[in-house]
Amino acid sequence: MTYSQAKYPYLIKNIDGSLRISFFFSVSYIIFIYQIMSQILYKQIQEFYDASSGLWEQIWGEHMHHGYYGVDGKQVKERRQAQIDLIEELLHWADVKGAKNILDVGCGIGGSSLYLADKFGANATGITLSPVQAARAMERSLAMNLSQKTRFMVANAQEMPFEDNSFDLVWSLESGEHMPDKTKFLQECYRVLKPGGTLIMVTWCHRNTDKLPLTGDEQKHLEDIYRVYCLPYVMSLADYEAIAWQLPLNNIRTADWSTAVAPFWNVVIDSAFTPQAFIGLLMAGWSTIQGALSLGLMRRGYETGLVRFGLLRGTKEFRI
Ligand SMILES: C[S@@+](CC[C@H](N)C(=O)[O-])C[C@H]1O[C@@H](n2cnc3c(N)ncnc32)[C@H](O)[C@@H]1O
Repeated sequence: MTYSQAKYPYLIKNIDGSLRISFFFSVSYIIFIYQIMSQILYKQIQEFYDASSGLWEQIWGEHMHHGYYGVDGKQVKERRQAQIDLIEELLHWADVKGAKNILDVGCGIGGSSLYLADKFGANATGITLSPVQAARAMERSLAMNLSQKTRFMVANAQEMPFEDNSFDLVWSLESGEHMPDKTKFLQECYRVLKPGGTLIMVTWCHRNTDKLPLTGDEQKHLEDIYRVYCLPYVMSLADYEAIAWQLPLNNIRTADWSTAVAPFWNVVIDSAFTPQAFIGLLMAGWSTIQGALSLGLMRRGYETGLVRFGLLRGTKEFRI
């Protein structure tokens, strides 16, 4: 083959005359593939929540997150109360007593945004990949008389359409597991956080791997969860904490609340097999049915200690 730099710009000629692919081209190619895969993932997430959010709200209400059942997970309570208790316990744990301007990253149908806006008399912005969720959150804000204080947008948390230093509370409840680039996600949360503001991130994790790497069975279990719930991958809480130090967040605190929230899946599984849920599932389509059929994956994940419920909080330093 005759080599011509103009014709094959991605090839470099070695001293011995052989050809190799240029480093620049290899890196560009990897970035290109990563971007395509991320776009496919975003579309899957959008379709998953567009299809399933109506059913979720009808059966489980406006909060699309775990509930809190006491430190030992033994408190008996109604599901919605457990979800509100989770929000309250998080605020208490993170030492947040008020906020003026809140960003809810991965807001679902506005469960947390509206609750927090109401509780603190704050402005709240919610972002989601799902237009159906954003529209429903706006309807709910009107119904709750909170439309002057809240707004909901379709926007990507990996590239947020906000100025630096905009919010004094950045809240992300169970959306981090969907992010294809966890570092970029936390960097974005940090960028839009005001100096002195607090970030609270709560996300699905896998167990720490410092003593024992994940086994083949565990990898397979996680991959089944990823496929059903549109997750690229999850990490350990220690991995998230390492990123947080780099940002650099201050006053970092982490906690594992797996025991406190694990009973949630028993409640969800029981309520998924009622006639009302059955009809709703059939109407919502295959991805939602798959999600319901796979609820046991999460329950088993908590039972074996593989799936963990991780919390991270930190503040942004005031710069002089
Ligand atoms: C399990 S729901 C949690 C919803 C809400 N935080 C709650 O607790 O009710 C996950 C949310 O993350 C959102 N999400 C996932 N990836 C996202 C991304 N890249 N940018 C913005 N939102 C995203 C989804 O659209 C969905 O609203």
